[in-house]
Amino acid sequence: MLVKLPDKDVFFPWENEMNSIIISEIELNDWYFLDNGFASTAGMESAHKPIIQLASELLVKKSSHILDLGCGNGALLREIMKANDCIVPYGIETSLEKVKHARLLIPEHGGNFHVGNMFCKGLLGRLDKSFELVLLMPGRLLEIDRVHRHTLYNFLNRNAKNIMVYAYGDWLTRFEGLGRLAGLAGLRLLCNSKEPVVSLAAIYRDSEECRLP
Ligand SMILES: C[S@@+](CC[C@H](N)C(=O)[O-])C[C@H]1O[C@@H](n2cnc3c(N)ncnc32)[C@H](O)[C@@H]1O
Repeated sequence: MLVKLPDKDVFFPWENEMNSIIISEIELNDWYFLDNGFASTAGMESAHKPIIQLASELLVKKSSHILDLGCGNGALLREIMKANDCIVPYGIETSLEKVKHARLLIPEHGGNFHVGNMFCKGLLGRLDKSFELVLLMPGRLLEIDRVHRHTLYNFLNRNAKNIMVYAYGDWLTRFEGLGRLAGLAGLRLLCNSKEPVVSLAAIYRDSEECRLP
């Protein structure tokens, strides 16, 4: 099934008044985990843990820009930042509500969270910088057509020093693991673990033609 892409992405300027809300109170809201597809904070923390760990190993005290494609409310980026205060987070997310929440959670970088579609050329063009790490759930590439897939591959080839892929629950069971899911999306895992839930990945050179059903 193809996802209908919005004609234009939307960018909302930073809203100052949100600064005053206390972070620990924010975490008590149900949207803190619901936004990211989880049933509880504990469930979210447990799913985020291996991603945070791998990101921390990769980004040891390096000043770096990180982009989460489909960032939800930015809770994952915020946890990665806790392990390394040199990180500058960026996110793209289709839901305005979730981006507003991301701006509450990470007010100091609120302007780096964009409402829009990760396959939108115009939006990606606005993020034309070098990212030390780009986070991606490969299933997203199975939801769109070849042209938009290429837009993202091109962006990743040009702007991502490292691509990190991950998947949660249902995506892993439906596709029998991250390796197969990533393969269908034209990405090759760069790890030898048996049943990884997160891994660095590379784009197959011939990804555009052969691996998608
Ligand atoms: C499961 S949540 C993950 C959030 C966060 N990355 C994490 O791991 O906790 C996936 C998010 O991707 C967003 N999303 C789905 N398709 C998208 C697209 N084409 N462009 C931007 N965001 C998208 C959804 O709205 C959702 O908030």
